Amino acid sequence: MTPVPDRIAIRIGPSVLSANFLELGNDLREIEAAGADFVHFDVMDGRFVPNISIGLPVLAATRAGTGLPIDVHLMIVEPERWIRAFRDAGADRLTVHAEASPHLHRLVQEIESTGAIPGVALNPATPLSVVEELLPFLGQVLVMTVNPGFGGQSFIPTMPGRIERLRRMIDRVNSACRLQVDGGINRETIGAVVEAGADTIVAGTAVINRSAPIADNLAALRAGIPVRELPS
Ligand code: DX5
Ligand code: ZN
Repeated sequence: MTPVPDRIAIRIGPSVLSANFLELGNDLREIEAAGADFVHFDVMDGRFVPNISIGLPVLAATRAGTGLPIDVHLMIVEPERWIRAFRDAGADRLTVHAEASPHLHRLVQEIESTGAIPGVALNPATPLSVVEELLPFLGQVLVMTVNPGFGGQSFIPTMPGRIERLRRMIDRVNSACRLQVDGGINRETIGAVVEAGADTIVAGTAVINRSAPIADNLAALRAGIPVRELPS
């Protein structure tokens, strides 16, 4: 038995929502230097979620400020109207909410046609079956582990069971689809989501905060990932 550090396969992306926007360039440089795998970019429209965040001009600035892949999470109504614009502003992956569109398959095709990797996000109360038929077409499914709209909320403790069920669903169709989690992920909760089958982690306040440098916070988060013993 050789100990295989599972943490190598796990991707972690800090959420720009927690950044200091006056010093966004500095935060992006710190994120990259800390070894983050991607940058998560939260777009909120005040309609799909009860908050307004950042949009196209800040995405273009983020694109100019980092070489990391940018993972755009659209928490907006009528996402089909905005796919091209967010792609042009710098999105590498575009994730839309299942609850925001009656024509998800069409929307996913549209994202794919722009050259971006398509993802679908699910609110905590949305049945997993909503994405089942789409799995062969997706680059990722995003399981919200809080209700979307704000950074710094507490992880919903029933979410690992849901992640396990989705993991089985993804493995069954043999999809290369990644399983992303977002909301309330910190050094205490990361172990449970990875054990349940998440392979892509978004973290806002746990990584970008005033208590410690981004590199230290990211290292602490990675250290929370369980290392499993696998057969050699
Ligand atoms: C919440 C956003 C998250 C948020 C995560 O609606 O989608 O990406 O930035 O922040 P934390 O990690 O602080 O919960
Ligand atoms: Zn997000």
